[in-house]
Amino acid sequence: MCGIVGAVGHKQCSSVLLDALKRLEYRGYDSSGIVTIHDGKITLKRAVGKLVNLDAVLSKGPLKGDIGIGHTRWATHGGVSTANAHPHVASDRVSIVHNGIIENHLAIRQRLEGAGRQFSSDTDSEVLAHLFVEALDSGMEPAAATQQVLAEIEGAYAFAVLTIDYPDILIVARNASPLALGIGDDACYIGSDAIALSHLTRKIVYLKDHDFALVRADGVAVYQEGGVPVNREAVFVAASPGLINKGGYRHFMEKEIHEQPDAIAHSLAAMTNEYGQLTAHMSDSALHAINGIVMLAAGTSHYATQIARYWIESLAGVPVACEVASEYHYRQPATSPYNTAIAVSQSGESLDTLMAMRHAATCNLSTIGLVNVPSSTIAREAGAVLHTRAGPEIGVASTKSFTAQLTVLLCFAVEIARAKRQIDDARAAKIHQKIQALPGLVGKALALFDNIRPIAHRLSHAKSALYLGRGTLYPLALEGALKLKELSYIHAEGFASGEMKHGPIALIEDGLPVVALLSADGLMAKASNNLREASARGGNIILIADADTLAEVDYASAVIEVPPVDPLLAPILLSVPAQILAYLTAVEKGTDVDQPRNLAKSVTVE
Ligand code: F6R
Repeated sequence: MCGIVGAVGHKQCSSVLLDALKRLEYRGYDSSGIVTIHDGKITLKRAVGKLVNLDAVLSKGPLKGDIGIGHTRWATHGGVSTANAHPHVASDRVSIVHNGIIENHLAIRQRLEGAGRQFSSDTDSEVLAHLFVEALDSGMEPAAATQQVLAEIEGAYAFAVLTIDYPDILIVARNASPLALGIGDDACYIGSDAIALSHLTRKIVYLKDHDFALVRADGVAVYQEGGVPVNREAVFVAASPGLINKGGYRHFMEKEIHEQPDAIAHSLAAMTNEYGQLTAHMSDSALHAINGIVMLAAGTSHYATQIARYWIESLAGVPVACEVASEYHYRQPATSPYNTAIAVSQSGESLDTLMAMRHAATCNLSTIGLVNVPSSTIAREAGAVLHTRAGPEIGVASTKSFTAQLTVLLCFAVEIARAKRQIDDARAAKIHQKIQALPGLVGKALALFDNIRPIAHRLSHAKSALYLGRGTLYPLALEGALKLKELSYIHAEGFASGEMKHGPIALIEDGLPVVALLSADGLMAKASNNLREASARGGNIILIADADTLAEVDYASAVIEVPPVDPLLAPILLSVPAQILAYLTAVEKGTDVDQPRNLAKSVTVE
């Protein structure tokens, strides 16, 4: 999703900004641009497509100046074009970059156009530039001008402004969209997240909602709502591994699939104390007090919560509702049966999930965040935080963060069950022991790439595919279908195997690929019957299953076999071949695996 960067006081401002934008590339974007002030004038370069295009434009006409802002845009209002790319400039005097959506932009635009102001883009964001010109025209200084603009706009935003009137100040503000300020030795920076600034500084100030700030080379002045100066403490963020690279793999996704044994092991370590005992880093009394959980998440993270529901309900006997975050917030949910909300998000910045968690807090639910980015907004705002330690995930499609989320959620389920005395310490320790074997099992599943390649080759010619599973493998079927469709653009749907006969079985025709997930749980015989029914109608069954299930299977046209696994852990292990299948199918089709069309990594609009 849109990325914002900025620098003030840095001599090679434009090249520093381009490097910072490269660090935000993983968020997904379709155009980019940088603006600086040089010799008292605004100088701007923009390009459609990848950052190499902006790089080429900058090589032909480098930008000078020691103050600048840059942006990667993921189109919301207005198509993908150079005119709609940020930064936007108004009256050759003010330039802005914006992340989010200004919801009342149409009314503001009409008012400004009525007053004779000329717009040059179709974006909602451009109103910001004109509003600042208007405020400066009336003689306001930066803080007063910002307050006036903030009073008029509605919606989610993080934005940065530079103006030739104050060529040593960047004006920034945020509400619901992330923004980090970086404090350097002789310069200050801004970025949508701390990763963007990791080559420049680790000293970060996070703005709170409705804050704005004036950023100068020698420091930042932060104001809260109403323009009251406020001190926001700087924090030192953990060193990031610099400009993240593919480590010899063809795609980030391939690398991240291979990183899963480590991602799971590190996440498991985060749930284990110094004596090797499982802990949710919450007191037994806090865990015992949980009487019902609403789980809030989007996309792949939502499917992780759906799998976790089976574990938490069956082990701990605690009722769980899994909510699509974007629906929960506006549904006016009756929350009385639950006292706890868990927001699950790799990025910790998905606006839908953040808003849903805030809504849960206003309904008096205790909030727990499960995030992969420790400095993210959800981590900062949740009442308690659980961490996955999957490391930076750059491929837009979640892989290692999903299996890491599942690992942590399974540990969490075991810990609530133990705290509530639904299982005794011995049973908890036994499950924990099995979980400890996961990194090794997942490592073995990675050897499946070559077996899956010919299956992916055939699947790449399909127009449509079904994914089926029962029990915990039902949400995994939904996730497998999501992976295939988002990466290879092949239409794919996931269903509960037992639900097929209630309608979806009508879709089956000769040769339709049906990816079936099977483990040796109590539902295996029933699931196999469902698959026989699909096969009898011409479905081409691609079975992903562990060795213990295969003896009875006589209906599969292709089998992807993982090592024998306890059914409790099966959704984690079977995720890996499902990811590999989607990845290799996309590679066969030649799609943009790491940045599939129209998608963004961190979705910071509603
Ligand atoms: C799909 C995918 C997305 C994300 C979703 C939530 O592969 O990655 O569906 O899972 O956008 O993102 P987070 O977990 O960052 O809140």
